Amino acid sequence: MKKKSTAGARSVLVLHGPNLNLLGSREPGIYGRDTLGEINRRLIAAGTAAGAVVRCAQSNHEGKLVDAVQRAKRDGVTFIVLNPAGLTHTSVVLRDALLAVGIPFVEVHLSNPHAREPWRRHSYFSDIAVGTIFGLGSRGYDLALAYALGRT
Ligand code: DQA
Repeated sequence: MKKKSTAGARSVLVLHGPNLNLLGSREPGIYGRDTLGEINRRLIAAGTAAGAVVRCAQSNHEGKLVDAVQRAKRDGVTFIVLNPAGLTHTSVVLRDALLAVGIPFVEVHLSNPHAREPWRRHSYFSDIAVGTIFGLGSRGYDLALAYALGRT
């Protein structure tokens, strides 16, 4: 059987940063009770229903996230949904990777960093993102993906 081509298809990468593998048990009062697996399954199902390819990845390692962004360009990803987690406030290299590949992205945070410690207010990503979604819990990912699917 001929391999299904994704060329020209909508292809979305959902990228989760450090510690988001612990969602569900990590500070549930702040980040909610949905596990990363539940969130990813929901997003993949929404992508499939829309006839798009949604791939989800998480890493606790900054360099691996940079690699994933660079690979996304080679793989023809047309949009990224990104929660950089703690790297939001520190990562020049992940910012540079996104600028290098030029793939449009939405920045998602489960919590509202502006309502937390002052140092969480600075993001290395917000000014280069198409948009930002803060504080809506895991729903933020669904909304970002819905935007991506409507756009790409
Ligand atoms: C987060 C907010 C960050 O400040 C924090 O370091 C995280 C999660 C969020 O989704 O609310 O790890 O990105």
